[in-house]
Amino acid sequence: MSDAAFPARILYPQARITAIGSYVPERRLTNADLERIVDTSDRWIIERTGIKERRICAPDEFTSDLCIAAVQNMKDRFQPDLSDVDLVLVSTSTPDFAFPSTAALVQAHFAIPHAGTMDLSAACAGFVNGLLTAFGMVTAGFHRKIIVIGADALSKMTDYTDRSTCILFGDGAGAVLVERTDEPRPQPVVCVQGSDGDGGIHLYQTHTTGSMRGRPVTANGKIIQNGREVYKFAVQTIPRGVAAMLSAAGLAPADVDWFLPHSANLRIIESVCEKTGIPLNRTLHTIERYGNTSAATIPLAMDEGVRQGRFKAGDAMLLFGFGGGLVHTGMLMRWAGLGQ
Ligand code: UT7
Repeated sequence: MSDAAFPARILYPQARITAIGSYVPERRLTNADLERIVDTSDRWIIERTGIKERRICAPDEFTSDLCIAAVQNMKDRFQPDLSDVDLVLVSTSTPDFAFPSTAALVQAHFAIPHAGTMDLSAACAGFVNGLLTAFGMVTAGFHRKIIVIGADALSKMTDYTDRSTCILFGDGAGAVLVERTDEPRPQPVVCVQGSDGDGGIHLYQTHTTGSMRGRPVTANGKIIQNGREVYKFAVQTIPRGVAAMLSAAGLAPADVDWFLPHSANLRIIESVCEKTGIPLNRTLHTIERYGNTSAATIPLAMDEGVRQGRFKAGDAMLLFGFGGGLVHTGMLMRWAGLGQ
């Protein structure tokens, strides 16, 4: 039975991912390091989140540097021709500047001559929204080749005196190339997308304004989170979104070859698997080693799957992003294989 609160949308895409790359900074921040900074313990962090360590940018390393390194990694491994890329789209909540966009900095680094550039703000659901946007733009025929990047340097806005948030976040980036295909019988992409703007107060960052929809906010430029509320939102929303997508695609949970949920907390992932019936061993995430890297968690997990040779053409792959907004975006697609 369809769930009216989670309308699934279907696209028959003339687009596929042809290359991927990723990057995380060198510096590791372990649970033992955090024990020296705030009143916490390795045991608490692992039991409550599954996180063992995260990667943190150097002081002079920013989101655009992460993006550039991820695209360079994609270039080194797949040698794509980037000279005819028509759009660079960076999903991030931590742009180097309000403007120019992070995407424009990436375009300049790679000297891509005729690309449009834009940043997309959808917090931890950013990469899935970017990928959906790229699939839509290419299928509509506006573009033939789009670089989509999910990148965040949350350490730049993490309050390292707040033990309830500073143990969670890390930095990283993943990039994919989305290209036009002329597949005569494209496999459907199913998506669900929704927001609860009233829940924005549970997870935000601001330097400036005094209120959000009439409710006072802390304007210290750091991440403010009501973890319990966001946790509840995640474990209630994702299973319904997943069920709606599977129903629209005519698939059972056992038909999902790979589940790539946003890596915010291992307990959320385990709970979602239990509620949806998707086996935990079909799930790819990077929570243990990288923590919550926001828009980067899903492409980092995807690239890890690629490096490990896990995916074969035709595999059903389910991505699910959720976070500040509050927002959620899920995407169910068939892996088409990389390369030309
Ligand atoms: O990507 C964006 C989406 N974000 C998320 O998905 C985050 C979702 N939320 C969570 O992952 C969890 O809520 C957290 C990991 C943030 C917190 O876990 P929790 O099980 O919800 O803990 P809690 O906030 O209910 O706190 C339980 C206790 C509290 O102590 P009392 O009041 O019971 O005495 C906290 O003060 O744990 C305490 N606590 C800590 N203790 C040791 C909170 N943080 C820590 C800490 N170390 N780092």
